[in-house]
Amino acid sequence: MSRILITGSSDGFGLVAAQQLISQGHTVYLHARSSQRASDAEKACPGAAGTLIADLSSLSETKKFASEANALGPFDVVIHNAGVFLGPTRRTADTNMPTQVFVNVCAPYILTCLMEKPKRLIYISSMLHKQGDPGNVGDMFWEKRGEDDWNDFKSYCDTKLQLNLLANAVAKKWKGRTSVATVHPGWVATKLGGKEAPDRLEDGVETYVKLAVGDYDQGLVAPYFEPRGHLGEQVAAAGDEGLQGEVVRLLEGKTGLKIPA
Ligand SMILES: NC(=O)c1ccc[n+]([C@@H]2O[C@H](COP(=O)([O-])OP(=O)(O)OC[C@H]3O[C@@H](n4cnc5c(N)ncnc54)[C@H](OP(=O)(O)O)[C@@H]3O)[C@@H](O)[C@H]2O)c1
Repeated sequence: MSRILITGSSDGFGLVAAQQLISQGHTVYLHARSSQRASDAEKACPGAAGTLIADLSSLSETKKFASEANALGPFDVVIHNAGVFLGPTRRTADTNMPTQVFVNVCAPYILTCLMEKPKRLIYISSMLHKQGDPGNVGDMFWEKRGEDDWNDFKSYCDTKLQLNLLANAVAKKWKGRTSVATVHPGWVATKLGGKEAPDRLEDGVETYVKLAVGDYDQGLVAPYFEPRGHLGEQVAAAGDEGLQGEVVRLLEGKTGLKIPA
């Protein structure tokens, strides 16, 4: 049985994955953005071991989350699942970067740097990483581009490409110690996916559960999984070591944190 932490487990894939893992007897810690959402999550997941509360668009709350998680850990599995898609550019108060960029890329980076290494580290990305523009990596925090250039969809694709680049860099660095995977869970009608989405939530959750319990070849370096636990292929740019290094260098510069050796 594993000890598992899932970020953004108050709704969508994270919530249903937590429910299934709890029903299999695993020790699952939830995470929610506020005490109200924590209470919603706990009602929906009665067997959870506990709930961490942090708004993952806040630098200070993300750092506090890491230390609280370490006090509860170590975890066998951490699933970086929290994510945002639509919404205004709205820059975060303490970093001045778009919320979408902070939640989708920066918060997973900070938690990766500060939390004790788990055995399995899973980053929930999207097939839309394939539409991300590698040319935007250099301005990933939107310091050069302005409000007029903002497009939710394009920026979301960029954040997911950047997340894959980050995950692939961590996978190489922690090879033989921590199995690191990225996931496209399917286009599903969650709050984030929207009503038109054609795929089945349970197929994406199947991938979360398979990876969480270690039912895959953990010797693979930086695998990318799709619904129903199928191995997929990332876009070629995600394997570019120069781009991986650039994402890590920029995140390091912005946060002052380094991925531990
Ligand atoms: N649905 C799709 O079609 C699809 C496709 C590809 C990839 N994905 C990825 O799958 C992951 C899960 O998405 P989902 O579809 O399950 O969406 P969802 O139902 O909207 O769930 C997202 C979760 O993240 C949490 N969250 C968002 N911003 C947060 C913040 N600032 N602080 C703390 N928690 C925050 C949400 O909390 P609240 O409940 O309080 O909002 C919720 O628990 C995301 O990374 C998403 O990009 C989804």
